[in-house]
Amino acid sequence: FQSITLFFGEIYGLHNENSLYFTYSGGCNELEVNNLHYEVDTAAQIPWYERLSEFKLPWEINGNKQIAINRLSLRVHSGQMLAIIGSSGCGKTSLLDIITCRDEGGTMTSGQVLINGKPNTPQLVKKSIAHVRQDDRLLPHLTVRETLVFVAKLRLPTHFTQAQRDQRVDDVIAELRLRQCAHTRVGNDYVRGVSGGERRRVSIAVQLLWNPGILILDEPTSGLDSFTAHNLVITLSRLARGNRLVLLSVHQPRSDIFQLFDLVVLLSSGSAVYCGAARDMVPYFTALGYPCPRYCNPSDFYDLT
Ligand SMILES: Nc1ncnc2c1ncn2[C@@H]1O[C@H](COP(=O)(O)OP(=O)(O)OP(=O)(O)O)[C@@H](O)[C@H]1O
Ligand SMILES: [Mg+2]
Repeated sequence: FQSITLFFGEIYGLHNENSLYFTYSGGCNELEVNNLHYEVDTAAQIPWYERLSEFKLPWEINGNKQIAINRLSLRVHSGQMLAIIGSSGCGKTSLLDIITCRDEGGTMTSGQVLINGKPNTPQLVKKSIAHVRQDDRLLPHLTVRETLVFVAKLRLPTHFTQAQRDQRVDDVIAELRLRQCAHTRVGNDYVRGVSGGERRRVSIAVQLLWNPGILILDEPTSGLDSFTAHNLVITLSRLARGNRLVLLSVHQPRSDIFQLFDLVVLLSSGSAVYCGAARDMVPYFTALGYPCPRYCNPSDFYDLT
């Protein structure tokens, strides 16, 4: 077994625990969400002219409000990895979009989001947070390397020389293990390119390139096989150890992935059922009378119940 592990370690560079190619040298960051309440109007997406058949004027239409996030509070600082887990439609993407000021179609009725003690504004978010969204927005006709070179040209500070930019691109490619597909077209639904998992990693690479202090990822492991997903979360956990703040949403993570998280928020229809250290989650529910059955993955078990 050891030789097999060694073999895979050689291929994927696992043997090198310090394979963090660049570290974050900025200050300590803190992200705080206070008593956040967010409602979405489920009827707002239907245009008013489609409602004409109801003989109502636009302002007379009362949409039905749905609570997407219900009185949520959390606090996380540099060096920690916080995972938001929960079933589909529980509000993970909404929460991450609110934190990064990208929410659409909903209203925040109360609460606030603070980044280092300051309310989140689009300018502040742009400076301090890297957000990897659930859907990939990449140029399909560029290769992986071209994509990163292009972003390096636009996003890195002006004092970077061309050699430093190229070095950074190489480091990110190595960090996310994209070497074998560096010269393949990225592609999208219509243009065949790299695999879905590789495309997810390119999206993460694009954000990692400018070396942010806060990294927010929406379902980075969806669509990846369990081995690659595990490796990706190990990479994220290493980034968190390098004094970054990592916030990610995951869909029923495997138990070995779950163990890598420092903090966990378990959402259920927008309400936080559990918010605290990952290792205390099972004892907490056991004390409430819901023990996790033996040989059962806690994130699977509590997600479904
Ligand atoms: N702008 C909107 N208009 C209408 N409904 C919305 C809007 N934004 C969110 N919702 C609703 O809020 C709920 C939470 O959505 P969200 O996208 O945050 O789920 P999620 O946890 O990310 O799910 P998944 O794991 O499938 O990505 C859903 O029921 C969704 O339909
Ligand atoms: Mg989502």
